[in-house]
Amino acid sequence: MTQVDVLLGLQWGDEGKGKIVDVLSPKYDLIARFQGGPNAGHTLEFDGKKFVLNTIPSGIFNEKTMNLIGNGVVIDPIILKRELDNLKAAGHDPVAAGKLVIARKAHLILPTHQLLDAANEQKMGKNKIGSTLKGIGPTYMDKTGRNGLRVGDTTLPDFKERYDKLVEKHKEMLAHYDFQYDLTEKEAAFFEAVEFLRAIPHVDSEHFVNGYLKSGKTVLAEGAQGTLLDVDFGSYPFVTSSNTTTAGACTGLGIAPTAIGKVFGIFKAYCTRVGGGPFPTELEDETGETLRSVGHEFGATTGRARRCGWIDLPALKYAIMLNGVSELIMMKADVLDGFDTIYVCTHYEHNGETIDYMPYDIISVKPVPVLKEVKGWKTDITGIRGVEEIPAELSDYIAFLEKELGVPVKFLSVGPDRIQTLTLG
Ligand code: GDP
Ligand code: IMO
Ligand code: MG
Repeated sequence: MTQVDVLLGLQWGDEGKGKIVDVLSPKYDLIARFQGGPNAGHTLEFDGKKFVLNTIPSGIFNEKTMNLIGNGVVIDPIILKRELDNLKAAGHDPVAAGKLVIARKAHLILPTHQLLDAANEQKMGKNKIGSTLKGIGPTYMDKTGRNGLRVGDTTLPDFKERYDKLVEKHKEMLAHYDFQYDLTEKEAAFFEAVEFLRAIPHVDSEHFVNGYLKSGKTVLAEGAQGTLLDVDFGSYPFVTSSNTTTAGACTGLGIAPTAIGKVFGIFKAYCTRVGGGPFPTELEDETGETLRSVGHEFGATTGRARRCGWIDLPALKYAIMLNGVSELIMMKADVLDGFDTIYVCTHYEHNGETIDYMPYDIISVKPVPVLKEVKGWKTDITGIRGVEEIPAELSDYIAFLEKELGVPVKFLSVGPDRIQTLTLG
């Protein structure tokens, strides 16, 4: 039996998961997305081309790798169809190549789920979550509320009746909001996309993945969002609606905890967050603006400006603990190339105490970060390809992080392209 390696984000998402899954995919027979939905935007760059994937796993550009959209994912058929149409136009057709399968038990995002998401956010006003408005929350609510529709249901003779029944319920809910909508176009697009979805092979992901493991094949589970957006452990209520942590890979694919192998924890050399909610190390000044412009920190899914700040070690330690991270991957170090001094948050001042962990309440009592100065490397690292070329100050920064976090940094990313990735150690 082989085990499932897991790759997931340790911050508030957008750490660079798509890029690294693509880089690692030649080593794996199967790449499997286990949670989230098209709220994700995973960017890949190679050979001068750039792709953003929302639902499709980031292994599809590798010739021999199979890709699974797991049962823990919520699927918007319209977005999935658009993703596949765009890929086809760019010369990639994972369906025709037999490289994409979907879990029957994955839940469907209906047009009315999106309306409910939008109506709810509108009602919350300035306290809104800052959702991507893809219908994620309402779809997971129907899943746990035992009302949801699943991919496998699309092949049942009474699919339309089941759909109508759920939409009726949604319309009753929408009537409680002061919210205008017109479903006609969206509904037509939905049913067209459902036809398309039926043509993609459906599998039972629990048997599919375990079958891979039994035959000694290698599997990598691809996370979406990040640990601090986890519905149980993130900055609740400013979170997404799924378990973004390693445990989510078990329920989102149908594998036992003992089947988990390596856990790759991916983080930026600084920190970002998009949407509302607390962010202790946020920089609402010129430095934050510099990180945003140098790092092109604008959402891959919504285009919104990402909030930027320094790296946060109490938050990273928490994420490492929750996920059982065995190897770290540091991204976007090149964004710090121009800084004379870099800052690292090592502790928080919170309720009159200095603490090194993430406290329960970071919303009404904002933790004040305790920052340590680190000397910058002041070198363009985007062209380096060998570990011997890493500037001494950057090596020192990595060694400091490894000591603080207690986990080795296995890969260092120095630019968005596939080839801008260094294997350390
Ligand atoms: P994901 O959601 O975790 O897959 O990350 P996103 O794709 O949303 O955001 C990461 C962004 O950073 C994308 O635009 C990537 O192309 C880019 N990126 C990834 N790694 C690096 C890196 O090492 N340096 C720079 N400058 N950009 C990177
Ligand atoms: P990837 O996989 C960054 C954020 C939203 C919002 C909150 C809830 O690309 O890292 P939702 O749409 O789930 O109801 O939004 O979570 N969010 C993300 N932020 N990267 C993502 O995905 C995200 N997916 C959701 O901005 O604050
Ligand atoms: Mg993203």
